[in-house]
Amino acid sequence: MDKKVTFAVVTLSDSGYKGEREDLSGEKIIEICKERGFLLSCYEILPDEKNLLIEKLIELSNQKINLILTTGGTGFSERDITPEATREVIEKEIPGIPEAMRSLSLKKTNRAMLTRGICGIRMKTIILNLPGSVKAVEECLNFVIDPLEHGIDILM
Ligand code: MTE
Repeated sequence: MDKKVTFAVVTLSDSGYKGEREDLSGEKIIEICKERGFLLSCYEILPDEKNLLIEKLIELSNQKINLILTTGGTGFSERDITPEATREVIEKEIPGIPEAMRSLSLKKTNRAMLTRGICGIRMKTIILNLPGSVKAVEECLNFVIDPLEHGIDILM
């Protein structure tokens, strides 16, 4: 690939936003993507607010960032809105990537079935929801990053 892949990380966490919790999951995503040679364009911690996430996803995809990775907010809590916000902005859904992440994760914990994360394309940008825990981020992202890069290549 000639052009560098650009990526953004958006962490959804009320406590992280207030500075009460270190964002180790966001840091892990950045580490994995940088190892892959991707360029970090934006890193944000947002509270679990649907409209704020929608605005951010639109802003980042308008900037033609190749990949937006969210972490957190995919579970069952009342304030978990990451998949709903993502669904509002994507034009095409990519079910295979979250399916693959869940099937891998299920080999490690049956709680993997509790993440409702989705993935899709808005214009030229892929948006992928990762669960909130560092371990989940590490397992899931490392598993899908190679086909994800191929998908990005097709969209570039
Ligand atoms: N996936 C992996 N690989 N490892 C995990 O430990 N935890 C699960 C699930 N996915 C987990 C996982 C749990 S317990 C929950 S509640 C959901 O992700 C949602 O997490 P989130 O609300 O932090 O996004």
